[in-house]
Amino acid sequence: MNYGYFDDQNREYVITNPKAPVKWINYVGTLAFGGFVDHTGGALICKGDPALNRITKYIPQLPDSDFKGATLYLRFKQGNGYKVFSPYSVPTLDPYDLYECHVGLGYTRIVSEFYGIRTDVTIFVPVRDSRLIRDIKITNLSDQPMEIDVIPVVEYTHPDALKQFTNADWVPQTMQSRVYGDEKGLKILIQYPFMYRETRINYFTSNHPVSSFESDRKRFLGESGYGSWANPLSLQEAELSNYEALRGDNIAALLHHLGEIQPGETRRIITQLGQEESVEKALPLIRKYRDEESVDEALRNLARFWDDYLSKMQVETPDPSMNHMLNVHNPRQCYTTKNWSRYLSLYQPGLGARGMGFRDTSQDVMGIITHIPEEGKDLIRKLLHIRKRDGSAMHQFNPLTMVANEGDSREVEGAPRYYGDDHLWIVLAITAYLKEAGEIAFLDEVIPYYEKDEAGNPIESGTVHDHMERAIKFTRHNVGTHGLPLLGFADWNDTVNLKPGAESLIVANLYGRALLEMIELARYLEDTESVEGYTAYYEEMKRRVNEHAWDGEWYVRYLDVDGTPLGSRSNTEGQIYANGQSWPVISGFATPERAAKALDSVYRRLNTRKGIRLSTPGYKGFDPRKGGVTTYPPGAKENGGIFLHTNPWVIIAETIVGHGERAFEYYSQINPAAKNDRINEFECEPYVYPQNILGDEHPQFGLARNSWLTGTASWIYQAATQYILGIMPTYEGLQIDPCIPGKWDGFKVTRVFRDAVYQIEVKNRDHVCKGVKSVKVDGQEIKGKIVPIFGDGKTHRVEVIMGEEVEKR
Ligand code: NOJ
Repeated sequence: MNYGYFDDQNREYVITNPKAPVKWINYVGTLAFGGFVDHTGGALICKGDPALNRITKYIPQLPDSDFKGATLYLRFKQGNGYKVFSPYSVPTLDPYDLYECHVGLGYTRIVSEFYGIRTDVTIFVPVRDSRLIRDIKITNLSDQPMEIDVIPVVEYTHPDALKQFTNADWVPQTMQSRVYGDEKGLKILIQYPFMYRETRINYFTSNHPVSSFESDRKRFLGESGYGSWANPLSLQEAELSNYEALRGDNIAALLHHLGEIQPGETRRIITQLGQEESVEKALPLIRKYRDEESVDEALRNLARFWDDYLSKMQVETPDPSMNHMLNVHNPRQCYTTKNWSRYLSLYQPGLGARGMGFRDTSQDVMGIITHIPEEGKDLIRKLLHIRKRDGSAMHQFNPLTMVANEGDSREVEGAPRYYGDDHLWIVLAITAYLKEAGEIAFLDEVIPYYEKDEAGNPIESGTVHDHMERAIKFTRHNVGTHGLPLLGFADWNDTVNLKPGAESLIVANLYGRALLEMIELARYLEDTESVEGYTAYYEEMKRRVNEHAWDGEWYVRYLDVDGTPLGSRSNTEGQIYANGQSWPVISGFATPERAAKALDSVYRRLNTRKGIRLSTPGYKGFDPRKGGVTTYPPGAKENGGIFLHTNPWVIIAETIVGHGERAFEYYSQINPAAKNDRINEFECEPYVYPQNILGDEHPQFGLARNSWLTGTASWIYQAATQYILGIMPTYEGLQIDPCIPGKWDGFKVTRVFRDAVYQIEVKNRDHVCKGVKSVKVDGQEIKGKIVPIFGDGKTHRVEVIMGEEVEKR
């Protein structure tokens, strides 16, 4: 069973059945202006901040058949009234002859045929000019002339998205709409909460004369609001009521009479939804985007943006599902997580104070650094602004106000107010930027720490390098009785909240990984003193991890304040954790023998054919001493579910020890593109990774949720491109060291790096998993496997022959 197919030529996924198991969405625009559009045309749009400046009301919890945020109605005369239907299927749910939702790069295009009318709507936000455009083309497919009316509709929310739900008195008293008549019968319907009347207005307009409009939901639905979105009674009247709402539930509906359309004839209407300080300010661009050519050009610009973004890395492997994901969908998802962090999706509805996560965004940066390193640097800067002077980090922040907070730790009295891991991720993000862009001077840029004086000015600033050093220092000085780093409120696993004093093994290993980065950087900077210092810290932590955390067959995951391990044979539940095994390999702390044993234990104890579980067995009931993890039933999310973010770490670890077959098996078993033909079990979009899949302890094993905004995007992209295909930026050049299935004959990659194009062909005639026998650059054999930096804007051919390594021979 499937609901659509991949169209590689157009870089789209095409949904052919509107009744997908859950809403499948796509993102348009960026956090500056944009949001998501679902596959039946619903839209959640905001400007600058989903929590504080939301424009459309989209309630994910309503049934999928309901109106959400926006729709489009068409009608034609029938009997004494009108046949009204939505070409998006929802909310009228009429039978269709054709339904296609093209999930494109930054746009969604819905093409449908109902009652002899073909509607083709492209929905997108232009690259720079903030507005949601719906470019609507209507064709009469019948053999008779048809009179068709077109009625696009949006429903507004109060900009304070949470207040919309928590205050049903204040909100409706403040919401107002007014019409602004423009040239040639064109109209702009504006909407605002009273307090923003002079400063911030939403507008909805089109490029076709409007014969009437409605701005009040009750009147639109009819019969005091007892009409429905499926059958709005006002659309049975010749005209809408032209009512300018003074309060209540505000909508914008514009009625356009297209007149008689001849058989085969196509008409086009363009609508715009946006927000500006005033109508006057909005007018120049509104007029620009009423012009069809401007809209066509904006769409071409969007395509150019994506061409450029994706051109930085394109692959040709023997696996079509891997190609779908690596050439289009995975880097697109990385761009999406970079834009929205965990702030706006069907599952993370962007209400209240969540904002952007320090840990999440640091990891998201690593997913886009190949494609848009400059934007990565900007995000790193933002993140450093919420670093504390002691080296720790605030947990999350609001991107508009830059006000940060300590996350869920605030809700638990007496709990530590920091997360053990947050501050360390940024070290990895910074070195990823430096290696990609080569801009070592960034280390000297001065960025203030978060703490402010009474006047609101930062108390202290430090260079980027100083920020990195303090991150290391914080972990070094905040250790527990075994000398292992303190957990704080939680580490990467937000849901295990142990009593203060507990120690975390993922933090220990992340610290180890961050130290490796510091050592490599210091070596590059020829700072021998730092190399020695950091190497000593590294060895010290390596010793402690191996002394206190080895459990015989695998590493434990935490030590409680009284020294009791979690993730150990001695536990009856939560005996083994995936992160407990992958990270000692990634940090290099595990000895070869222990690495092999630990990874084998993952394969035996944690792997399922649908992904690797986070831990096993699941906790069987709520236990306040462990915290949030025990609020989930066994098999769900962090409690023994397949929490996908952790899978790429195991893949990376497997490539480090040279297991190309197993790494690829793990990669393929979670590839959503490969699930396209059995999607009924998985349910989520086959073109993006979800955050979680129910594990085998749950009766609905295989069911995915929380698609799009997950650290899986960045890490699976890194795992596939840098570790399986092995194309890894370094300070000295582009290293090529693949770890692939032995049966592959090879693969090709085009990679843009430091202003040159590397056209790489890897040949695997000896059918090994790992090992580079020789590398030729532009026909000349080079020593080692790091291809030099050219920076000459030219294309260079790189031929890599896999086999037994030269040094080993
Ligand atoms: C989701 C959070 O966004 C992420 O930061 C965290 O690591 C995972 N949950 C695991 O708990």
